[in-house]
Amino acid sequence: MCGIVGYIGKENALPILINGLKKLEYRGYDSAGVCVMHKNNFSLVKEKGKIENLEQTLLHSNILGNVGIAHTRWATHGEPSQLNAHPHLDCKGRLAIVHNGIVENYSALKELLQKEGHIIISQTDSEIIAHLIEKFYLPTGALAEANDGDMEIATIKALKLIEGAYALAIIDKNTNNILVAKKSSPLVIGVGDEETFLASDASAIVAYTKKVIYLDDNEIASLTQNGYSIKNINGELIDKKIIEIAMTVDQIEKGGFRHFMLKEIFQQPEAIENTLRGRLALGTVKLNLQFDVSLIKRIIIIACGTSWHSGLIGKYIIEKFSGIPVEVDYASEFRYRNPIVRQDDLVIAISQSGETADTLAALKEAKLRGAKTLGIINVVGSTISREVDSGIYLHAGPEIGVASTKAFTCQITALLLLSLYLQQIKKPIDNTILVELKNIPEKIKEVLAQSDEIKKIAEIFKDSKNFLYLGRNLNFPVALEGALKLKEISYIHAEGYPAAEMKHGPIALIDEHMPVVFIAPQDEIYNKILSNMEEIKARGGNIIAIINKRDTKIEKLAKYIIKVPESINELSPLINIIPLQLLAYYIADLKGLSVDKPRNLAKSVTVE
Ligand code: M6R
Repeated sequence: MCGIVGYIGKENALPILINGLKKLEYRGYDSAGVCVMHKNNFSLVKEKGKIENLEQTLLHSNILGNVGIAHTRWATHGEPSQLNAHPHLDCKGRLAIVHNGIVENYSALKELLQKEGHIIISQTDSEIIAHLIEKFYLPTGALAEANDGDMEIATIKALKLIEGAYALAIIDKNTNNILVAKKSSPLVIGVGDEETFLASDASAIVAYTKKVIYLDDNEIASLTQNGYSIKNINGELIDKKIIEIAMTVDQIEKGGFRHFMLKEIFQQPEAIENTLRGRLALGTVKLNLQFDVSLIKRIIIIACGTSWHSGLIGKYIIEKFSGIPVEVDYASEFRYRNPIVRQDDLVIAISQSGETADTLAALKEAKLRGAKTLGIINVVGSTISREVDSGIYLHAGPEIGVASTKAFTCQITALLLLSLYLQQIKKPIDNTILVELKNIPEKIKEVLAQSDEIKKIAEIFKDSKNFLYLGRNLNFPVALEGALKLKEISYIHAEGYPAAEMKHGPIALIDEHMPVVFIAPQDEIYNKILSNMEEIKARGGNIIAIINKRDTKIEKLAKYIIKVPESINELSPLINIIPLQLLAYYIADLKGLSVDKPRNLAKSVTVE
């Protein structure tokens, strides 16, 4: 989703802005632009496509200036084009703005502004904001009020009319500051030595400063070379804490891997260790939860995409270990279906980014209805992590590849910890599971060591048009996740199904052109999976099976086999998903596709 960077300080702004935009590339975008201010003049350059296109145009431009804003746009209103790229200007070219979010009432505002004579040149909702500020900043005739001419007041007036979401940065030719404002889209301020930064997330500015302030909704800040002042939407000054972030530059580089996704797949053993670190001690699980868990009667998990898949696995394991009933909802559906939420419910929001608009909105709805809330989040300091009553951070490190991998396995790990934590209130935890949890990173390494064999299978199937993924029980969500990974990055149509459900419809699709991926550990329903495989084999389908090392039966049924280490049933998704991530990765890479930044997708979906 759109990325914003800004700089005001003693250095030349342009390289800092471009560098910051590159760090935000993972969010997904289709055009980029920059506006640098020097001696009351703007240099504005925008290009469709990659940041490299923008850099080409900037190559001989010799743009100087110590103040600037920059943006990567992920199209919502209006096609990806140079005209629709940000920054946008007002009619007189006095203000430049960059925006992340959606102005939901933009049609009405556009009509109003056009009636008043504003010339709106792009198809975006964002350009409206520049004109709306202009409307209050430079009034004419009888409409003029005492405070007109003050950009901050004009901006506050404009923001009060906007329905929807915004992270906003504004520069004005006549003032030496950057104004920023936020509602439902993330924005972070970086505090340096005689320089101040802003960005959609800290990865864009961590190379320059680790001191940050997360802006909250309905806050507006004025940034100068020497610092910042933050106010609420009523113009009252507020005090906010500077936070020291732990993220390092190394963590957001590829570290010798061909793609971030591959790096992140290989990081999973270490990432899971980090999720577990300090949380297992002497046969117990230690979590720092801020409410009395013994009062919880029901759990509702809300999430989207991959995080929703880990939520489905969470249902199995929480119910199994704690006996507490669990419902799992798509966050986008939960919010609009007038959900029944009680005070003794715990609502868990799962989100890698902690910024997903649907999950955030559903969480707010749950809070309004009186539930206790818990976040299972990766990005420290993100909006959802600040909104929940309590949280379990994944500590997986930055996930840059748009296709989520290490966040998924760490989310399952966090859910396992939570399940055991809830169990230990009633009865002691079986030590075997704690020991096995610690063994998981080594078992994942064993699967990763087979990446060359998985690549060979990818070679065979890279031109397939469809894929079916089948699993049962806890491995049904693994099938869903395997299919999602493949479609996201290879653009091959793939569906995940409970293996037994296949005969109620999808079996009609099976022929020799249909690869069918089975996740088939030797669990209590192993024999049932064997029958499902027979059904596929009888119809000529190509079976690729993820099986346990000691399995001897499936080798006779499946043409392609990937052997993975055995584990306790409830932990098996942590192992079984790895070959599916690798299969999707290699298929996409062999097809020459943009693995880390697949078309149309954004890493952090901050619009509804
Ligand atoms: O940041 P979140 O976990 O809240 O994101 C939710 C989904 O947008 C995300 O999982 C998406 O489905 C990924 N691209 C999956 O790989």
